[in-house]
Amino acid sequence: MNATTATTATSAASIAAAASTRTDGTSREQMRAIVQDRYGDADVLELRTVEVPTPADDEVLVRVAAAGVDRGVWHLMTGLPYAVRLAGYGIRRPKYPTLGLDLAGAVVAVGTDVTDFAVGDEVYGIGIGTFAEYATAKATKLAHRPDHVTPEQAATLAVSGATAEQALFDIGRAEAGQRVLILGASGGVGSFAVQLAHAHGLHVTGVASAAKAEYVVGLGADVVLDYRSDDFTDEDPFDLIVDIGGRNRVSTLRSALTETGTLVIVGGEDGGRVTGGVGRQVRAVMRSPFVSQRLTMFIADESAAKRARLHELVEQGRIVAPIDRTFPLERVASAIDDLAAGRLRGKAVITIGAAS
Ligand SMILES: NC(=O)c1ccc[n+]([C@@H]2O[C@H](COP(=O)([O-])OP(=O)(O)OC[C@H]3O[C@@H](n4cnc5c(N)ncnc54)[C@H](OP(=O)(O)O)[C@@H]3O)[C@@H](O)[C@H]2O)c1
Repeated sequence: MNATTATTATSAASIAAAASTRTDGTSREQMRAIVQDRYGDADVLELRTVEVPTPADDEVLVRVAAAGVDRGVWHLMTGLPYAVRLAGYGIRRPKYPTLGLDLAGAVVAVGTDVTDFAVGDEVYGIGIGTFAEYATAKATKLAHRPDHVTPEQAATLAVSGATAEQALFDIGRAEAGQRVLILGASGGVGSFAVQLAHAHGLHVTGVASAAKAEYVVGLGADVVLDYRSDDFTDEDPFDLIVDIGGRNRVSTLRSALTETGTLVIVGGEDGGRVTGGVGRQVRAVMRSPFVSQRLTMFIADESAAKRARLHELVEQGRIVAPIDRTFPLERVASAIDDLAAGRLRGKAVITIGAAS
């Protein structure tokens, strides 16, 4: 964020937040936000009054209506695995004290270099510190919100939805008629992946806990397996495996693929405090050139352009936002606890009404 952007086209009247007086006598709008001074469990989160951020030249300021909760915010909250800290989020304490990535809301200010958005536009995408009444976001990470998609629904698309889309199509090169195995089918990414694969004409086998089997069938899965009692290697071979949960060994995953099948490793928890178990991904990619199967991993591209296909399917009503629960801003900690404990079917969303 660039606090020196004097020419930012701010609609001051639309920032309906309390004003505070700085030591130099000028005033600055304030907002409520979820803030953390240190890494840790959800009890490090506090609802505080802080200054409204100023967008840099290539950013916009969004009055946040809804913000999605995903595994990424848990990683940023805890600072785990430590590799997250080395990736630029702050070694000893969080570099960005406000939490939250996904957002949907209305533009209230635009940086001088931004041409695609104007004050009043309804947008969704990825921002910085979106568990707040206002957040900045790079214009390249935002898209206009489709008319009939609510802010709550839109706030699930940019992280989980886009990751599922890229895993299946950009990396997995999924084609209609193929057999796909989706490990982690009931979670944030998996709920989108199952729907997208079904809408694209693939035969979908989803793996989740038994309690969520019915939910996964409702998303469009043809077969649902329980990861505690079923063995996916007993099934007919798969053309594509999208590996989102469970951290199975690469050799096990390969044994469930066809001779020329593709493995896309998206992620998986409990891989250790230092690297998060990313060695599994690295080993898969290194082995890939020497085997007939294609073994891949990827980090999702956050640019709005990468969401085009998902955006279209949501606009057509063929994909629905998998929202389990909504929480007010002051209950972000509960939402993250529910996510970490596996209590959600799909996603939690924070709904935020800025003070007027
Ligand atoms: N590569 C990227 O750019 C990228 C982007 C986004 C997310 N990710 C990563 O992807 C992972 C999933 O994210 P998410 O937001 O979808 O998380 P989530 O909502 O917590 O979902 C996790 C899923 O994994 C399932 N699961 C748990 N244990 C399993 C097992 N042994 N076998 C199969 N499935 C199992 C869960 O099933 P139950 O709930 O039924 O137990 C749930 O469906 C995380 O590690 C996240 O960091 C990576």
